Amino acid sequence: MRLHVADHPLIAHKLSVLRDQSTDSARFRQLTEELVMLLAYEATRSVAVEDKEISTPVTTFTGTRLAAPRPVVVPILRAGLGMLDGMLRILPTAEVGFLGMVRNEETFEPSAYADRLPDDLSGRQIFVVDPMLATGGTLAMAVDFLLARGARDVTAVCLVSAPEGVERIEKDYAESANVEIYTAALDEKLNDKGYIVPGLGDAGDRMYGIV
Ligand code: URA
Repeated sequence: MRLHVADHPLIAHKLSVLRDQSTDSARFRQLTEELVMLLAYEATRSVAVEDKEISTPVTTFTGTRLAAPRPVVVPILRAGLGMLDGMLRILPTAEVGFLGMVRNEETFEPSAYADRLPDDLSGRQIFVVDPMLATGGTLAMAVDFLLARGARDVTAVCLVSAPEGVERIEKDYAESANVEIYTAALDEKLNDKGYIVPGLGDAGDRMYGIV
């Protein structure tokens, strides 16, 4: 497992506004999209490409295009949905699979309530998007779903991560898969309610309101 923590002043600035409790939902969603685009630029660094002959107005030229098969972006519902548009602006030809997961707020254990993924993910580059990597339980469950369908390369794009979650993913997937995590920040810890500290609160609630 490889962890990449962003080190860029624009990301730090936007993330600070996102964390601020006075930031409203509309601005929160807009900042999330902007942050995802900045993170996606790095997270897609090893996306597969191939040569493509093109004609410019001046000459012919061997250019570059994304190679088949198309990458797959997998938002984890609900909060991951807020990161989908940003990923698709960077990877417009990606296929999209959905995983719906909810965390039990007492045990912090996730359970899956929706699974719309391609049946065969072998050879596909997968980008899982979920803003908060807290205990790592949800991401581990998502990675297990993906591995069960033949995936081997999974890149998680997160906004805020806790050391506890990163350690769990590191331990669980040391051997079995190539998992990379791109995060805008690695925070201090989890509190006893399973929230990331300093964090930004409940990302889904802040994006969409409390349900
Ligand atoms: N999920 C959230 O939305 N926020 C946290 O701090 C932890 C998990």
